[in-house]
Amino acid sequence: MLEDWLAPKSAALEARGLTRRLRARAADDDLIDLAGNDYLGLARDPRVIEAAAEALHTWGTGSTASRLVTGTTALHEELETALAAYVGQESALVFSSGYLANLGVVTALGGPGTLLVSDEHIHASLVDACRLSRSRVEVAPHNDVEAVEKVLAERNEPHAVVMTESVFSVLSDAAPLTELAAVAEAHQALLLVDEAHGLGVTSGGRGSVHAAGLAGLDHVAVTMTLSKSMASQGGVVLGPALLREHLVNRSRPFIYDTGLNPAACAAALAALRVLEAEPDRPGRIHAATGRLATVFDVPLPAGPVVSIPMPGPQQAVQAADVCRLNGVRVGSFRPPSVPDGISRLRLTAHAGLSSHDLDRACDVIVEAIGQVS
Ligand SMILES: Cc1ncc(COP(=O)(O)O)c(C=O)c1O
Repeated sequence: MLEDWLAPKSAALEARGLTRRLRARAADDDLIDLAGNDYLGLARDPRVIEAAAEALHTWGTGSTASRLVTGTTALHEELETALAAYVGQESALVFSSGYLANLGVVTALGGPGTLLVSDEHIHASLVDACRLSRSRVEVAPHNDVEAVEKVLAERNEPHAVVMTESVFSVLSDAAPLTELAAVAEAHQALLLVDEAHGLGVTSGGRGSVHAAGLAGLDHVAVTMTLSKSMASQGGVVLGPALLREHLVNRSRPFIYDTGLNPAACAAALAALRVLEAEPDRPGRIHAATGRLATVFDVPLPAGPVVSIPMPGPQQAVQAADVCRLNGVRVGSFRPPSVPDGISRLRLTAHAGLSSHDLDRACDVIVEAIGQVS
């Protein structure tokens, strides 16, 4: 039965060069990594590992239940307080992933009385949140503040949420946060900013909402993942305490999901403490992206991702394969993960890259692109 059902789909993907394949990473491989999202280079930091190990010994291997039952520990509360203070928000609520944080906040605010206005480049987790929300959804052209204002002004719904990323995942360009916040405020809407690629990276690490002076405002909320700069797992919604209370009571992805593992909380907390103690780390990310952008002649990204357009999906995958065979791991973006259908190599800069490794990686990638193009 599945043969008739799924095999033609699989063959169609293969013919278009869009098949995705899992590849297990060896713990001790010595590839130069420009594919992972460990932006601050902390996933193997002894301080972070030690904090996670200590939490394992103290709390055991799991959180044992949902946050409202036994899944909240002192570590969850400490992490929420520390993160909120670091980025200047009144409160924070930890979810078990960034994906679920986005589902959790949007579905809890959504419904027939809420218009959701989404940027067309928004992350898949927010797209899925819109689909689950039972709200009317308007997709605005990328970074088009006027289009956002128009749909807000013309709406019949009493409530509205404008959704954007501070730094977009694929093109790594920045959203016009100040303008969006002004438009949201003028039309009694909430601005929800996904800072997955902003935390630990922009504004010295505190993110773009903080840099724009929007942190702590009543009509601005933020989501973050702990899986990138925070070297761990998990997600967070930050904003007014009233929003947090609403989520604790109404957010199904919060209520019906087992709480984040205490060891993951401890790792994120330790990573945050390292970032506070070593505020030069975000600057190292920007130095690396600057170098990559110059070598590959692409616009300087606002965030940690450098995207290099490729002729097609096959070439993107082949170039990544050639890089790997030559000691450099890079990612690739292919449809449906690209907002404009253009396949790309995805290079992530991280604070742990030495200039020698960066030089070597650039040479290998230039050669690989030449080979497949
Ligand atoms: C913009 C954005 N939002 C949300 C997520 C989801 O975060 P997580 O991996 O913690 O589920 C990601 C991560 O891939 C992302 O890039």
